[in-house]
Amino acid sequence: MSYDTIIQGGDVITAAGATRADIGIKGEKIAAIGANLGRDARQVIDAKGHYVIPGVLDVHVHLELPFCGTTSSDDYITGTRAGARGGVTTVIDFAIPYKRGDKYESLSEAADNWHKKAEGRSLIDYTFHICITNWDSHKAQIDGMVKRGFSTFKEFMIYASEGWQSDDRALFGTLEKMRENDTMLLVHAESSRVLDELIDRHHTPALMKKFGAQLHAITRPNYIEAEAIQRAAKWCEVTGGALYIVHMSTGEGADIVKDAQARGVNIVAETCAQYLVLDDSVFKKKDGHLYACCPQLKKPKDIERLWRGMNSGEVSVVSTDTCSFTRKQKAMWKGDWTKIPMGMPGLETLLPSVYTFGVLKNRITIEQLVQKLCHNPARIMGLAPRKGNIAVGADADIAIIHPRKKFKVDPKTMETNADWNPFEGMELAGFSRTTLSRGEVIVDDYKVVGKQGRGKWLERKHAGHSK
Ligand code: URP
Ligand code: ZN
Ligand code: ZN
Repeated sequence: MSYDTIIQGGDVITAAGATRADIGIKGEKIAAIGANLGRDARQVIDAKGHYVIPGVLDVHVHLELPFCGTTSSDDYITGTRAGARGGVTTVIDFAIPYKRGDKYESLSEAADNWHKKAEGRSLIDYTFHICITNWDSHKAQIDGMVKRGFSTFKEFMIYASEGWQSDDRALFGTLEKMRENDTMLLVHAESSRVLDELIDRHHTPALMKKFGAQLHAITRPNYIEAEAIQRAAKWCEVTGGALYIVHMSTGEGADIVKDAQARGVNIVAETCAQYLVLDDSVFKKKDGHLYACCPQLKKPKDIERLWRGMNSGEVSVVSTDTCSFTRKQKAMWKGDWTKIPMGMPGLETLLPSVYTFGVLKNRITIEQLVQKLCHNPARIMGLAPRKGNIAVGADADIAIIHPRKKFKVDPKTMETNADWNPFEGMELAGFSRTTLSRGEVIVDDYKVVGKQGRGKWLERKHAGHSK
């Protein structure tokens, strides 16, 4: 047998562009890409009339995350099954050190805790960003985590109540460490002092009765994100460390990133599918509280600016920030928006939503979709050339999608544990008919067939975007 698997006759989207080609797979790797590789293989997968794209990397997920007084409802079993149905073959989660008594867990303990959640359960490959939640104790542990194979770190500019917040001193010092180690800092950028003040001012029974979940948007005007991105960009500029803004949701943020990039600052930004599709009018709905996530959904003008940023380059990556909560968990709010567990499911709909609202609406090309969901995340997170591309020698992580076949988003038919969905009722194309992870078919005919626990942790040596 020449190959274990041949994927035949699809429109293959690579870094170089689109070509009609066959793909030959040996073991876990892509061994050949060519016009006619024949049928000498254990299995031949017909891809005629389909796009064949690299497996998607969702580089921003929270699986089984203790947060907002509960634990997010998708774990490494349901979350990675959901991902596979949406063509995702790699996830990057966030290992967070919690405060225990008066001491913080170490970075290494946080990584161990997240390894336990994933090992033997994940369907697809995974790794973690290491979160710094206590600069004084964690700064001396960064080098050790780099030696352990982690190359991305994360700080939150909000969430003092969770014990996760970092101040400017931590951001500055961590960016210096990133420069020394050729690693990268991810930042949740929202300006906490003014945000807390606005929340305090609005936290009255009368306003809560009048505005309900809309207060989540009312208390987070765009300048809350913009000021924080501006400040983080300044620390990035003066330290020379690599910075990645997570879940950017505002047009102002995109303008700041664009200006900083033009000055040569080492900064890139990610947005999430929900910020490209939904706006804050959802908070007026009867179940509007379900849509609460941080940062919150913004205005139609922000949506259009973020799509423009996909074309002009200031939006480098699209992820999901998957942090699913069920209706029962979301009901904890009881009319007080500050008590809503923040986050939504996303892994299953990342590729379908960006494909449907981006490619089918002519806002981006299929090649640009592959750049934002596959090439860029792999390159920036230090996983290229192994992941994110269809190339000889790369892992055979592949999604095969039909260009037009649509499915109605219905939580009852989905893999996620969430019993609601932000895209519920929408007809989306781009679900994966066939997903391969390291050469193995894990989704066949739109159904998950892979075995839980086969996913592997991915060691990384560096990360960043300047090279
Ligand atoms: O609402 C969100 N995004 N939940 C997860 C935590 C975070 O800020 O990413
Ligand atoms: Zn965040
Ligand atoms: Zn997040």
